[in-house]
Amino acid sequence: MCNAGPKADAITVPVIAVDGPSGSGKGTVCLELAARLGYSLLDSGALYRIVAWAGLEQGLSLEDGAALVKMIATLEISFPYSAPGAGAGEGNYEICVNGKSVGDALRPEPVSVAASRVAAVAEVRTALLSLQRKMRMAPGLVADGRDMGTVVFPDAQLKIYLTASAEERAKRRYKQLIDKGLGVSLRALLDSIRERDERDQTRDVSPLVPAQDAIIVDSTHLSIEAAVQQILEYAEQRGLSTR
Ligand code: DC
Repeated sequence: MCNAGPKADAITVPVIAVDGPSGSGKGTVCLELAARLGYSLLDSGALYRIVAWAGLEQGLSLEDGAALVKMIATLEISFPYSAPGAGAGEGNYEICVNGKSVGDALRPEPVSVAASRVAAVAEVRTALLSLQRKMRMAPGLVADGRDMGTVVFPDAQLKIYLTASAEERAKRRYKQLIDKGLGVSLRALLDSIRERDERDQTRDVSPLVPAQDAIIVDSTHLSIEAAVQQILEYAEQRGLSTR
């Protein structure tokens, strides 16, 4: 159901910031972490995808910060979450814009490319800041993104930088698309991943870099479960486990 969800809590609510490039397994790892810890989940990449998708729909220039910010003000965004055991769609979240579920519209490659472009616009990043910080709710938040530990939640209690080699990330994406029956070239995916990494890592605003106090987890040779276990151990060492 697409509704606004609960209100934000005080600033002391724990945050586990998980940053890293696309294809590192962040999305699945964060979903698991949130489910096992009973925390809320912020998929910040979805916010940039929403801006890109809505901007494309409205025919806006993806570099026009002022127009994009004006548009963002008209979007009511929520991520209603069904906890494990809640029934259909449990242990997952929906992406809602103005009361409509839009998750499927955000995944195609043109939206991914457009998201990387709007993410390089400083005004867009500023406009999305308060929205992201409002997601900090008790008993805790798992924040998935590129600048969670560096910019959005610099006081996060645990910062993870989850990465994997570009080749491994391209292979994972290739498998996902083939499983969906979509024909793609591995070479083209690898080029696209490298291009996007380059843009995300070298942009002026909030470039994709590990926070100084982040723990690097390389998932190239790790299963999702092994990565989740490693991060849960770090969380426990910091007294963050609530279950
Ligand atoms: O994680 P993702 O692939 O859904 O992210 C989509 C794009 O948004 C990607 O190019 C990186 C960018 N992004 C960002 O700049 N900052 C974030 N916190 C999250 C995503």
